[in-house]
Amino acid sequence: MTNWEQHEQEAAQAIASAATSDALEEVRVRYLGRKSELALALREVRDRESGMLLNGIRQRLETALAEREQRLADEELDRRLREEVIDVTLPGEELPVGHLHPITQVRRMVEDAFLGLGYEVRDDREVETVEYNFDKLAFLPTHSARSPRDTFFFDDTHVLRTETSPSQIHILEEKAPPIYMVSIGRVYRRDAITATRYPIFHQFEGLAVDKGLTLADLKGTLLHVMRQLYGPDRRVRFRTHYFPFTEPSIEPDVSCGICGGAGCRTCKFSGWIEMGGAGMVDPQVFLNVGLDPEEWSGFAFGCGLERTAQLRHDIPDIRALWEGDLRVLRQF
Ligand code: DAH
Repeated sequence: MTNWEQHEQEAAQAIASAATSDALEEVRVRYLGRKSELALALREVRDRESGMLLNGIRQRLETALAEREQRLADEELDRRLREEVIDVTLPGEELPVGHLHPITQVRRMVEDAFLGLGYEVRDDREVETVEYNFDKLAFLPTHSARSPRDTFFFDDTHVLRTETSPSQIHILEEKAPPIYMVSIGRVYRRDAITATRYPIFHQFEGLAVDKGLTLADLKGTLLHVMRQLYGPDRRVRFRTHYFPFTEPSIEPDVSCGICGGAGCRTCKFSGWIEMGGAGMVDPQVFLNVGLDPEEWSGFAFGCGLERTAQLRHDIPDIRALWEGDLRVLRQF
């Protein structure tokens, strides 16, 4: 065997036994690279015979190298196909996505119900002045809510709002009637925490001001909204009451959904559930915002969102809505 035949055999063997493409590349550099014996020899070639010999060797080695390269690539692909198998029919891993708090759910339902009636939705300040929280709503100077025992005061003139009713004054001062608005947000009262009371809670407050509005419009509006919130079979009734900023004032009740009005524990065996306060806008309120009570009429109402959520979901204790216990909240 000539030296070159031996050299070719050696190279062919190295190619055949290269186990990875990196190893194969090393073999290529060694036997076919620019500084390889073969390349150097080819550069020195002077006669046709040795040229043919060496070129023949180079061509065969290059072919073997290309085949080996392809083979390694195929094996690599096979291996990956075998090892990285994905069964696309397996169920995916479920990611824990949260959901809206029951208060937020109810808030959105209330917004939807009123948007459907063409009301605008607003959200006012929680730090309110005594003027807007009480004075302009015609609270008498002696009203008990003005006491620092009932209400959180920052100083003589600023409070945490005790109700969403100041929104009535804000919108009446901002724009001319007709007005149809619902204001939703947090309110604050100095109550001890019990199953039925919490010092922070939410209210939704409605105000409609137009020409010729009556108690019947108020009743129809509340009936529509209560049916949106609680279902189509609900009825609404009014009881007389007193609020500083409405005249007449009423308390609306909705028929109990648990017993259908027959009487049960939830409705304290009356068949009815209290919804909040309402009434026809007091002429004094119109005067306080510079509107003529002879020209304009209106109705207003305020209800608690916690109460609504509790009734919808049958939650007996208001604290469940404020404690953020996921074992409870995940149920709704
Ligand atoms: N603001 C009253 C409360 O928190 C509820 C209320 C009563 C709102 C009568 C009204 C209304 O808009 O007309 O007890």
